[in-house]
Amino acid sequence: MREPAREILDWYDRHARVLPWRVPPGSEQTPDPYRVWLSEVMLQQTTVAAVKDYFRTFTERWPRVQDLAEAPDAEVMAAWAGLGYYARARNLLRCARVVARDLGGVFPDNREALSRLPGIGPYTSAAIAAIAFDRSETVVDGNVERVMARLFAVETPLPAAKGRLRVHAAELTPTARPGDYAQGVMDLGATVCTPRRPACALCPWNDRCLARRLGMEAELPRRSARKAKPVRFGHVYVARREDGAWLLEKRPAQGLLGGMLGWPGSDWCETLPEARPPASGGWQRLDGEVRHTFTHFQLRLTVWAADLAQNFMAPHGSFHAAAAFRADNLPTLMRKVHQIAEDWFDHRNEERPG
Ligand code: ADE
Repeated sequence: MREPAREILDWYDRHARVLPWRVPPGSEQTPDPYRVWLSEVMLQQTTVAAVKDYFRTFTERWPRVQDLAEAPDAEVMAAWAGLGYYARARNLLRCARVVARDLGGVFPDNREALSRLPGIGPYTSAAIAAIAFDRSETVVDGNVERVMARLFAVETPLPAAKGRLRVHAAELTPTARPGDYAQGVMDLGATVCTPRRPACALCPWNDRCLARRLGMEAELPRRSARKAKPVRFGHVYVARREDGAWLLEKRPAQGLLGGMLGWPGSDWCETLPEARPPASGGWQRLDGEVRHTFTHFQLRLTVWAADLAQNFMAPHGSFHAAAAFRADNLPTLMRKVHQIAEDWFDHRNEERPG
């Protein structure tokens, strides 16, 4: 093995983070591909801190891929609520069902076959192949890009530098213990080679690091200026029946928050569309607006609330009894809307100051 990889493995043996999906280095256990797959899908575009609790909930509730495959869609989507990028949850279920039903519950043990499964792109297939099956695959996420940009003092900004950073990462990938090596570089990026103020004194690669030698570690990687996100506007309607039940809709499978529960609302447009509540009645426009950032735009929603009669027949969606309703089962945007609306329902009869 080449020296740089050995240095990372030695460092990982001493400093590996303890994470719920991980087999500690040097242990006799072999990683469970189901848990590796689930964690890597959850970790796409999401931090370790945000993922931990969701991972525990999922694996306690659905300990094997067969259990997840048999779970009703609505339960899995509700359990995923708050993690974001909901296409991941839809693909997670599709993948679990393919593995459980067509592959006898056994995940493929190589990158090519893994990458044919739903929701498994180049990053995830390499990560599962390396971590679960000890295949010598190069795993490149944002942490690894930062470490490589500094180690080799790559001044080309991201995203243009991606190809070059991958070549450097591939050159260093060992054939022995590639899973531990991949997790080691990711941990190094997360805990030592951090975006701001890297802790170079603690780094096993500090002698080799070109950026450090040049005194430019904190400046790398460079990034091309990001375009400002466009803003979109819409209305959202929160209705509560006399018995306290909330009117919710399952969003269409295609599109943002696809397959998730949400409040009825308008399309999201470049200018605020006309308000068209889903039912006639005394709709009240609430103060303030809900803001939420998606990958490609910012959203500003005007929130409306109304009381509905007990015999109201909803043209779309369905009522969710107050006792069974849990805001935690909604995506974050819809939770924010709920907070504003619930506050209004609870306090509307109080006198306003002034
Ligand atoms: N980020 C994505 N996958 C990871 C892993 N297996 N270990 C640490 N950080 C990660």
